[in-house]
Amino acid sequence: MTDSDDQGYIDSEKRLAAEAAAELVEAGMTVGLGTGSTVAYLLGALARRKLDITCVATSPATFDTARSLGLDVREFTGIDHLDVTIDGADQVDPAGWLVKGGGGAHTREKIVAAAAERYVVIVSSNKLVDALAAPVPLELLAFGHDATLRALGDARVSDKPSSPDNGVLADYFGPIGDPGELASRLSAIPGVVEHGLFAPAMVSDILVGQGSRVHRRCPGD
Ligand code: A5P
Repeated sequence: MTDSDDQGYIDSEKRLAAEAAAELVEAGMTVGLGTGSTVAYLLGALARRKLDITCVATSPATFDTARSLGLDVREFTGIDHLDVTIDGADQVDPAGWLVKGGGGAHTREKIVAAAAERYVVIVSSNKLVDALAAPVPLELLAFGHDATLRALGDARVSDKPSSPDNGVLADYFGPIGDPGELASRLSAIPGVVEHGLFAPAMVSDILVGQGSRVHRRCPGD
């Protein structure tokens, strides 16, 4: 198989997972929209359904694309609850822990995920891993971020631009071990705005495109 065949296969799995997630959305819902190439398929699939829904976006890129497709996307102000949020992930472990933030949007993604009654993750099968691996994306407050990096240890600023909230994007390269323990350690360091570890308890459904089928897992149950 060539690289482009591989990519075609992965893209087809992303599209299948995204289309399955779009079918979970019903008229009248408030919907959180994630960020990334898998979500790009979701936006098209949702727009094609022409449902009367209200959306919020986790990044300016998603906001602009969703609007250009005719979706009703609002600022995340004056809305305190979402019916469903749908987003991609960089890695998914067997327990349902996620690494997110490859697109630099994990802080907004975590807020929009936490605001939703149902959080649906859509991935191609190559995102399934036996154990999470570094890097874990971080967003740091710009103020004193060199001191924050020092406290983190094995972490450095990434080459991505600042977040839409002016946070410094960085990556943690140390060992992951128990993701829950690492998540607590990262959260406890002053200056860390948010890290890209998402706990299984947040996740309602993981829809995995695998070949020509979509498999569903429910880690939060
Ligand atoms: C964005 O910050 C990320 O969390 C994405 O959701 C994640 O990187 C998945 O992106 P793809 O769907 O492009 O693989």
